[in-house]
Amino acid sequence: MARLDVTETFHHISFPGHIHTQDSLNYALHFQFQDRDTVIATYPKSGTTWMQEIVTLVKNRGDPQLSKTVPNWARAPWLEQHYSAKVLEATQGHRILTTHLPYNLLASCHYLHPISQVIYVARNPKDVAVSYYHFHKMAKFLPEPNSFDEFLDSFLEGSVSYGSWFDHVKGWTSQAGVLANVLYISYEEMCIDFPQDLQGSMERISSFLQCPLVGEELTNSLRHCSFSSMSDNAMVNYTQIPKEIMDHSKGKFMRKGIIGDWRNTFTEKQIGIFDTVYSYQMKDCPLTFMWEC
Ligand code: A3P
Repeated sequence: MARLDVTETFHHISFPGHIHTQDSLNYALHFQFQDRDTVIATYPKSGTTWMQEIVTLVKNRGDPQLSKTVPNWARAPWLEQHYSAKVLEATQGHRILTTHLPYNLLASCHYLHPISQVIYVARNPKDVAVSYYHFHKMAKFLPEPNSFDEFLDSFLEGSVSYGSWFDHVKGWTSQAGVLANVLYISYEEMCIDFPQDLQGSMERISSFLQCPLVGEELTNSLRHCSFSSMSDNAMVNYTQIPKEIMDHSKGKFMRKGIIGDWRNTFTEKQIGIFDTVYSYQMKDCPLTFMWEC
């Protein structure tokens, strides 16, 4: 089957050309944020879809109607993807926006509107690398990853789509406490002990969004954003996307949803290389990650 893996290079970063154009990337850079916008910012494979579901449920007070009937990309569109301008122009009131753009790129044209609420989700990069590798196998708009060894080299170099994980995480988290209204949360703290930790995270997210969930609103939300429920929800599991674009015979989008799966893929040699690059890249960054549980 032919691949759609054309690359669009923008400000020295590669983007999948199937869903990005120079115009759509420029649109994102010059986007006019509004006071009531909620922006979900992530590096790919860090829990983006999960946070889109959580924020949708919070804003709908646990009512899953929207989550079950409207695809995530239509209710929380990516600023930088080519369809977004049309979707966003048709959206009234509170908007949920998603971006994989590095902070420095977005901020090169303007700072986020200071009243927008920003939620940044980060995940330990060993699990991100493994998840991204599997995603490259199924997503035909990304280059064929070949071996994990080759893919890991590109990941550590930052030559994969959306650029360097290190620059992304350092750029966005450097804004926590600087930009007004940024919530930093890790994939692991939402995931570790289901359902208690997801509940604690949802309470934190809902109070940050000034829509604190109570009683059934919270229990309904929890149920609908569990891994098993999202795996069955065609509005978030990407099964509606044509096979030519996402080939589900090569793997599922909702793959494993766990902490520490990298242990099943990384060799000792790869762990050594990864840890050396990580220590160098993160030497001045106070962030810590849970690597396994
Ligand atoms: P795995 O490939 O490790 O399973 P993104 O949405 O940023 O592309 O991230 C996708 C990753 O988040 C996948 O990781 C997916 O399984 C995981 N994920 C999505 N929803 C989840 C949930 N409800 N609970 C745990 N993990 C979830």
